[in-house]
Amino acid sequence: MKKETSSAVRADATRAIISGRSSFSHHGVVNTPVYHASTILHPNVESFEKRHDSKTGDRRKVIYGLLGTPTSFDLEEAIADLEGGYDALLTPSGLAAINIALLAFLRPGDHVLVADSVYAWTRSFSDQMLSDLGVEVQYYNPLVGADIASLIRPKTRVIFLESPGSYTFEVQDIPAITKVAREHQVTTILDNTWATPLFFKSFEHGVDVSVHAATKYLSGHSDVMMGAIVCNEASWGAVHRTHKLFGQCVGPDDAYATLRSVRTLPTRLRAHQEQGIALATWLEGRDEVAEVLHPALPSHPGHEIWQRDFLGASGLFSIILKPQPRQAILDMVNNLELFGIGASWGGYESLLIPVYPEKHRSAVPWNSSGQPLRIHAGLESLDDLIVDLEAGLGRLSR
Ligand SMILES: Cc1ncc(COP(=O)(O)O)c(C=O)c1O
Repeated sequence: MKKETSSAVRADATRAIISGRSSFSHHGVVNTPVYHASTILHPNVESFEKRHDSKTGDRRKVIYGLLGTPTSFDLEEAIADLEGGYDALLTPSGLAAINIALLAFLRPGDHVLVADSVYAWTRSFSDQMLSDLGVEVQYYNPLVGADIASLIRPKTRVIFLESPGSYTFEVQDIPAITKVAREHQVTTILDNTWATPLFFKSFEHGVDVSVHAATKYLSGHSDVMMGAIVCNEASWGAVHRTHKLFGQCVGPDDAYATLRSVRTLPTRLRAHQEQGIALATWLEGRDEVAEVLHPALPSHPGHEIWQRDFLGASGLFSIILKPQPRQAILDMVNNLELFGIGASWGGYESLLIPVYPEKHRSAVPWNSSGQPLRIHAGLESLDDLIVDLEAGLGRLSR
């Protein structure tokens, strides 16, 4: 916010409120307005011809709608500030953020190491696009830690991480991996969607590029598609150039909605965390449940690393049921009243879906005798959610 002149280090809760707020450039209105823009007019030819001249202004100069507007610039600034990055860029989806980040650093003949537990479409992009472009894709055990050194080759350019892993919630030893990557001049890209810029500070743990599906908690209301790429200074040039060459930009209404939601992110995320831990703890005590995969539970194999590196847990976790016939599982899930059956999480509503991690593994096969279910803990009353789950689990044994 422009009025701020103090150099004090602010807490995240404060920065979520003040970062990227230029109220006094907008007649004092609290939220940065929606700028719908493609063409930008200039008062004269001299100004027009200098529009790309970086010496005359900073990166957040309004040149063309494609390259950003005050609405998108304020959102980028807020996200970069919250995560402690050098700068950030927006993309029309989380998947686009992942793809642009990868393409910024990979060329034909290069080798990329991708965590075996990544989001399924990161795997599809790697297998179906990077491979076609002549990049050699190798999946690695997400729990490899410092032993990642043994997988690095002369042509390795990128290590892609996601922690905790999609569906299965393996917690990666990110500082150990990024330390090795730096020693070998390999760029690290982390999908930090689960923790958000609040609960994992990527750059303090040596990550070069942090990507987010802002579709999830950053926008937080299940009505926006958006991605963000947050960079350290060293990675900024390559990502910025690639983002521009691919013509990436976002709709101004979506940028506005996401920026408005960032203001309440600390409050929402705390509530998701509490609900998630409460539901996971309750589920751990149930006979029908073989295992709960939630990094904040002491029983989780990644709990110590999570506690060391993360500042909190969001509301997404999985459970593994004891073996049940498929029809019993369908009866359980189809008849839940409060848990929606939907894939995209991070909104205010609870979700529960069966997931099939074995379809998305190649380095470390996934074996579980019971059905994994992924749960998103929304902001409904905890008691009501437990009543719904209790009835659902009851249907399993009927
Ligand atoms: C961990 C993770 N990363 C990235 C994405 C992709 O985001 P989007 O759906 O906005 O493309 C998702 C979507 O589910 C996700 O769960």
